[in-house]
Amino acid sequence: MNSDLPIGVFDSGVGGLTVAKEIMSQLPKESVLYFGDTARVPYGNKSEETVIAYSRQIARFLCSHSVKAIVVACNTASAFALETLVKELTVPVIGVVKPGARTAARITKTGRIGVIATNGTIKSGLYERYIAGISPELRVFGQACPLFVPLVEEGMRKDPITKMMAERYLEPLLKEQIDTLVLGCTHYPLLTEVIGEVAGPSVTLVNPAYETARELGEMLTKRGLRKQSDEPATHRFFVSDGEEQFRRFANTILPCELVETDVNRKVFA
Ligand code: DGL
Repeated sequence: MNSDLPIGVFDSGVGGLTVAKEIMSQLPKESVLYFGDTARVPYGNKSEETVIAYSRQIARFLCSHSVKAIVVACNTASAFALETLVKELTVPVIGVVKPGARTAARITKTGRIGVIATNGTIKSGLYERYIAGISPELRVFGQACPLFVPLVEEGMRKDPITKMMAERYLEPLLKEQIDTLVLGCTHYPLLTEVIGEVAGPSVTLVNPAYETARELGEMLTKRGLRKQSDEPATHRFFVSDGEEQFRRFANTILPCELVETDVNRKVFA
């Protein structure tokens, strides 16, 4: 395997850019080939079969562009499709759920962990299973927050409505006296300020995007896949629809200005 190949990163849309951003900042030499399935977002309310089928199509697309590893940046796709992709692909594949779960299990002091995510991720119960696998004494309290994704995408990160929704969503978790909260959806790290304010200082927030980039770096090193050449990193972005909107959103998140994207609908074939 050529270690100078890019890392394939995919998500249901723009949210996975929070993971791409962490990869770019923690592994600045590495190139990223990103696919955002903007035509079919959201995945959070779709069935397991559908999310697996979409993830397979995108993984095939990324492999056709020769990537050395794939990061499933979407929590819902990680919850439903990671196992299938790991079994079917020859390149290493990592998701965002395990790194977030591992970190939460490591840092909790009281053993009471909250997880906020899409309906699909919460229904999958995967965070609970991973955390229970690490230590069965840990208690996990899940809460779906389906309105957070559209609020972020509508540019309402700091709007009072977003704060009201955060208060409503977090109330049952705070009643359970959690001390750790996993931001189990790509969009939620963009709400860190408001979620942190509502959760208060006794709750530590876990950003799986950060942890995933860290574990990706470790995995590449272990497998001898760290980029060797001194050529600067080049990042490419593909979407399945709404190129202009994607670019506008990306330019509010990424450290570099994104001038070019490609629309690729062949992924549906
Ligand atoms: N990327 C999804 C996730 O992390 C959120 C958006 C969606 O529902 O597709 O679960």
